[in-house]
Amino acid sequence: MSTDTITSTCQTLPLRSDIMVPGDKSISHRAAILAGLAQGATGIRNFLCSSDCLHTLAAMQQLGAAVSPAPNPSHFSITGFANHPTTAREAITIDCGNSGTGMRLLAGVLSALPVHAVLTGDESLRTRPMKRVIDPLSAMGADIRACGEKSGCAPLEIQGRPLDLTSHPFTYSMPIASAQVKSAILLAGMLAKGETTVRQLKRTRDHTERLFVHCGVPLTSSPAGLELTVHGPSLPRARDITIPGDFSSAAFWMVAACIVPDSEIILRRVGLNPTRTALLQVLDRMGTDIELLTRSDESEPYGDLRVRYSSRLHGVEVRADEIPNLIDEIPVLAIAAAFAEGDTAIRHAEELRVKESDRIHAIVTNLRAMGGQIEEFDDGMLIHGGSPLRGGTLDSFGDHRIAMSFLVAGLRASGSTSLLHCKNIDTSYPNFSEHFTRLTR
Ligand code: S3P
Repeated sequence: MSTDTITSTCQTLPLRSDIMVPGDKSISHRAAILAGLAQGATGIRNFLCSSDCLHTLAAMQQLGAAVSPAPNPSHFSITGFANHPTTAREAITIDCGNSGTGMRLLAGVLSALPVHAVLTGDESLRTRPMKRVIDPLSAMGADIRACGEKSGCAPLEIQGRPLDLTSHPFTYSMPIASAQVKSAILLAGMLAKGETTVRQLKRTRDHTERLFVHCGVPLTSSPAGLELTVHGPSLPRARDITIPGDFSSAAFWMVAACIVPDSEIILRRVGLNPTRTALLQVLDRMGTDIELLTRSDESEPYGDLRVRYSSRLHGVEVRADEIPNLIDEIPVLAIAAAFAEGDTAIRHAEELRVKESDRIHAIVTNLRAMGGQIEEFDDGMLIHGGSPLRGGTLDSFGDHRIAMSFLVAGLRASGSTSLLHCKNIDTSYPNFSEHFTRLTR
């Protein structure tokens, strides 16, 4: 089998380990961008050196930010280019790899800088919808257009220019719940002259807002965090950033420990931002045993979690308001649901269709191939849990979270489960294989 295939086998022994998952992906993208825009040097600790975030960091270097020492290991310093990108005269091509977050956030920044840039990415990224950022950024005065083979998709060509909203403050009511769209607008708004307001119907991850506050960018927020106003133009202050472990990466081990008999895993320094952790509430309703051992609050909250095997998991209904705060954990939640007694309903999750793969299709296809019972809907799925799963050879659809979720399923399926095309695990969890081997040896 190719080196791009990873195999998981049915566990006869409990999983017992202490794991520190790598740094948070969403925060790493934002830290690279804000530090790259700041005047002066920002120390970054625990940056996620995965291909997604390294592409964003490289983009900031292309624009003139200096990184030292080289970004691996994950502690380094970024000296920002402030208002003066070094590439102001030449057209540049920026490769965002597989990362929708990188592309959408950079689109916001580049719209307001004096640069001519083309943002591109891999085959998957060039099929993902970009109109969601093009529309609001154009309404702010940006010169941005999609020139991909698929309508509304990358490559994106941006002729950056000063955005002036002084005579018409810009307000955007978001039609979808998306932290990437919100952040693209806030980043453009930070660099624009005047006021930019974003209204969201549901609360989405708020890492951009927290980093704005940390770096002194003037942002006002309504009490529930649903309406945000940035007062530009402003540049972030260079202030050191420590990035907690990625909750979304920790989620794979949470579910693994819940389903493999007698397991007990400790997860250290995991990010616990409440806009990311709805999975904990859902797993709690399913009857899992997860305990918060320590908790610290800095710009982002984080802590240590102990997860123990649960002999009786039961199906639950995931509420619509929980979806944005567990959107990336749905693939692995579906695995927990397959081992629970009864039905788990996940609806209002149509955004899953436009992630790194069509995740609803990928989950349904792979669970059925393992013998699971699952119904597919346009906006989600209904999992009839409790049928024994069998191993086999599955496609990861080039999607890191599908690959890792089904490797977790393989720990409780009969025989062995091989996942093809796992290369993209590197986009979010470069040392996944090492941790997987440590847990299962
Ligand atoms: C992200 C936001 C979410 C999430 C993605 C990371 C971010 O996407 O699925 O993995 O860092 O802002 P949407 O904003 O499209 O919901």
